[in-house]
Amino acid sequence: QHTGQTSTDLKHGGQTSTDRGQVDTEFHATPFLGFNLTAIKEFRAAVEKRAKLRQYLFVTKNNTKLGERFKCLETDEWVLDPGSIRITEKNFYKKLPQESPVKANRTFRACSVVGNAGMLRNSSCGGEIDSSNFVFRSNFPPIGGEYNDDVGTKTQFLTANPSIFAKFYKNLKKTADKKSLAEDLTRYGHALVWTHPFHLKRYADVTLRAHDATRKFKTQNPVLFSHPKFLRNLTAFWNEHGMKAVRASTGLALATIAASLCDQVTLYGFWPFPFYRGRALSYHYYDRAVIGDVQFQNKTLEYYLLTNFHPYHNFTEEFLILQKMQGKGILKVQVGECQ
Ligand code: CDP
Repeated sequence: QHTGQTSTDLKHGGQTSTDRGQVDTEFHATPFLGFNLTAIKEFRAAVEKRAKLRQYLFVTKNNTKLGERFKCLETDEWVLDPGSIRITEKNFYKKLPQESPVKANRTFRACSVVGNAGMLRNSSCGGEIDSSNFVFRSNFPPIGGEYNDDVGTKTQFLTANPSIFAKFYKNLKKTADKKSLAEDLTRYGHALVWTHPFHLKRYADVTLRAHDATRKFKTQNPVLFSHPKFLRNLTAFWNEHGMKAVRASTGLALATIAASLCDQVTLYGFWPFPFYRGRALSYHYYDRAVIGDVQFQNKTLEYYLLTNFHPYHNFTEEFLILQKMQGKGILKVQVGECQ
């Protein structure tokens, strides 16, 4: 099955072939030789210097003035100006915490960042994930029940792209949809929800409604807003460190945050390739459709389009960045089954 050519193909974004033999990876991971405290400290200091994570991860009353204007980060393709949002008492200000829950010098010991890659299915990584002190997940992935063994049950930090509120909770306009969000959030215990009102202006209001929903239905989940300054500087940080894509994905953002807040970070479910050791994979671990043998060439292409030719981020490029970090002992990237 393996051609030995694959890792080079993948370095070029996997565009060269949709042949199963060639894309079925014999990816040579950079070995993980243990955590390197000096490298971790250097990385943390560099992120802190560029993105001021401890100050700007969340919008708080301490880092925002009433009446301040936040410039949004992106536009829809057909609009030139991303626009801005003025922080008023009525919209965001009264919903902001006084200060960031991330305390100045506090770090967590062991953290897991759970990406959503199909490789997690049948990985038996759930126990390992749950044994860490702090678990990051992105975009409301299904957990519990049939997923317990593979992805675990704990969550402390949950990202929510506002498009999820728009798409799956019908913009949170009706009480029934707010209630359904509140009910779904119970899966994640006390996890804080990190969402992005200042990304695309048209999504700002739905993040406010998500906040209202958690209050109205008294969920345990604080909804916290990302500061545009942090997201902008995070991308700048990675661009200055070799990333070509115009923005970091949720996964790379979480890996960066985790490495800044935790002594030992392990990533799970970061695998932007359509195959693993001869096994065809779904794009997300919870997707039903696996790349079928019958039409695998089309499906493989679709997979590459999703992971490599996303308009903003590129998972393969990010995967190689994360491999480099693993090589330096800044974090560990778990590939394949857990022991
Ligand atoms: O929001 P986004 O499209 O970035 O991500 P997602 O599909 O919800 O998955 C969360 C993260 O898992 C991504 O940002 C990637 O870092 C990682 N992922 C991966 O490495 N390979 C996949 N096949 C799917 C996701």
